[in-house]
Amino acid sequence: MVLAKRPPMGWNSWNTFGTDISESLICRMADILASEGYLEAGYDTLVVDDGWQSAARTADGHLSADPVKFPRGMKAVADYVHGRGLKFGIYSAAGVETCAGYPGSFGHEFTDARDFAAWGVDYLKYDLCHFPGSGNIQSAYLTMSMALKCSGRDIVYSGATCGEGDAKLWMRSVGAHLYRTTGDIQDSFATVKRHAVFSLDDLGLSAPGCFADPDMLVVGMRGKGYAADGGCTAEEYLTHFGIWCMYSVPLMIGADLRTIDADCKKILLNKNLIAIDQDEECRPPYFEKRSRYSDKEKLILLKILEGNRFAIGFFNLTDNDGALHAYFSDMGLPVYSGRGFRLKDLVTGEDVGVHRDFFSVRLNRHACKIYLATVE
Ligand code: GLA
Repeated sequence: MVLAKRPPMGWNSWNTFGTDISESLICRMADILASEGYLEAGYDTLVVDDGWQSAARTADGHLSADPVKFPRGMKAVADYVHGRGLKFGIYSAAGVETCAGYPGSFGHEFTDARDFAAWGVDYLKYDLCHFPGSGNIQSAYLTMSMALKCSGRDIVYSGATCGEGDAKLWMRSVGAHLYRTTGDIQDSFATVKRHAVFSLDDLGLSAPGCFADPDMLVVGMRGKGYAADGGCTAEEYLTHFGIWCMYSVPLMIGADLRTIDADCKKILLNKNLIAIDQDEECRPPYFEKRSRYSDKEKLILLKILEGNRFAIGFFNLTDNDGALHAYFSDMGLPVYSGRGFRLKDLVTGEDVGVHRDFFSVRLNRHACKIYLATVE
C-alpha cells in the first residue's frame, strides 16, 4: 500500500497541551473529531505528541505509557481512537531522550516499532533532540524506517527533524513521509509568517509519498495553550491556513477542539481550501522570485491543480493594508497568449470574472484572497 499519497490531516496534542495530556483528554478529542465534521472534512489522524511516556523504560527495555496520564496503556487509547473511525499517531525521537526529556528511541528502534505496531499505531512523529554527537542522523532515521517496515503494520512516518540536517534532501530516500522544514510554530502571526516564508524554498521536493512539513496549525488557538504567543485574528488564521493549503503540506490542527470558536472552525472546515491542499497532484506553488510586483511579503502564488485548473493566492504578509498586483506573464500567461484567468473566490464563492494580463486585489494587513482559476 502506498502511504501518504496526500498530505496527512488530523489533530496533534502538542500546540495546546504540551505534555499535559491524558486518556480522557485524547478520547474527548477523538469524539469531537469524529462527530463535529472534522473527520468528514479529512482530519482522520489523531496524534498524541510528546509526554505520553513513563520517565524510564521498563526493566526489559520497553517504552510504556505514563501510568497516571494513560492508566490503561496506549493500546487502549488506540482502540478507542480506532473505534471512532480515526487513525492513531504517537511520538518518539531519534535521540536518547525526546525533546521534553522522556526516553528516546536511539538504540531501541526495533523494539519500539514492534510495540507501536502491537498497540495499533498508524502514524509516528519522529523528532530530533538529544542526539549523540557521534551519531549519524540520516542513518538513525533510516534505522527507524526499517524498524517500522519490519513491524508488520503500515505506519506513516513523519520525519520531524526541525529542519536540521538538510532533511529535505534525504528524508524521502530513507522512507519517511514528511520532512519538517522549520523549528516550532507559535500562535502569533510573526511566527506563522516566518514559517511560511522560510518553507517557500523547501517545497520543491514535496510530493506524494513525502511532503514538506512547516509544522502544525495554530488556527483557533486564540492565544491559549502551550504554544501561545499572543494569538492571531481570524483573518490572520485564514492567511495561515490558506498558505498551508497552497503548499500542499500536512494540516494538523493544534487547537483545543472543545473550545474553538465558530470562525476558526469554519476556516479549518473550508472544503474548497482543503481540496487545494489535497489536490491529487500535490504540486508546490510557483512563486516568481524576480517579479517586480510580488515578493515574500506580498506573496502571490500560482498552484497548478489536477485537470487544468489552478489556484492563485494573494497574501499580504506586510504590516500595512495595500494592493497586490499579479501580472499573468509571471504565471505563464503573457498578454500575447490571448488567454486570461476566470477567478472564483474560494472563501466567498464569488465569481469575479475573466481577467487578462493582470489582476489587482486590495488586502488588509495579514489578509489573503485565494481564487480557483481556469484559463479562458
Ligand atoms: C519538538 C517538536 C515539537 C514537539 C516537541 C515535543 O520541539 O518540534 O513539535 O513535538 O518537540 O517535545
